Amino acid sequence: MAKLGVNVDHVATVRQARRTNEPDPVWAAALAQLGGADGITIHLREDRRHIQDRDLRLLRETVTVKLNLEMACSEEILQIACQVRPDQATLVPERREEITTEGGLDVLGQQERVAEVVRRLHDAGIVVSLFLDPELRQIEAARAVGADAVELHTGRYALAPPGPRREEELRVLEEAARHVRRLGLVVHAGHGLTYTNVQPIARIEGMEELNIGHSIVARAIMVGFLQAVREMKALIS
Ligand code: PXP
Repeated sequence: MAKLGVNVDHVATVRQARRTNEPDPVWAAALAQLGGADGITIHLREDRRHIQDRDLRLLRETVTVKLNLEMACSEEILQIACQVRPDQATLVPERREEITTEGGLDVLGQQERVAEVVRRLHDAGIVVSLFLDPELRQIEAARAVGADAVELHTGRYALAPPGPRREEELRVLEEAARHVRRLGLVVHAGHGLTYTNVQPIARIEGMEELNIGHSIVARAIMVGFLQAVREMKALIS
């Protein structure tokens, strides 16, 4: 059964809209854990648009499930990660002008740098996942640079209208997941997953972890964080 990683970035987005101290992603993470989250995910972006260094530090101290840090391959963030030591780091591409992470990491195009980042994270005792488009060559490159896991980007699946186009995107993800496992890596998935589209992804053979943020935070505004996480957890179980 896939584990649920709850991404609390957008709790911090609301806080940063007013540069104040509420709502606190640390509180949200506590409620997510009470609601059954198997992990808490945050993205410390270089521009600090939502999660702040203080959030990462406090979450490292208070989260009792897996703490997963999404991060770019930047030297500054890498040094912070190696000091704070989340349980897992997920390497993502990052562009300042994007609204959210738009595509997977191009491992093939920067293999040496990614290999170095993976090695330094491993030296700090951190498990490393790479966020990739479901492309076989990128998955093979992930193996070559020593990653432990691949998080398959589900954005194209999530954006496809229900019907044949979404089915086709699901087939692509299933084939990519098989490839990840054939190479001996662990399969994760995430991006754009919602209460209505998550189940086919949760059913993919060998799916170990789903990272979901926006949809859970959106529902939490209406029903509360604990309830929103509970409902998502029930769906993927
Ligand atoms: N996984 C990764 C690597 C991401 O960058 C994001 C977005 O921060 C997510 C999962 C969660 O995506 P969403 O907010 O669309 O659920």
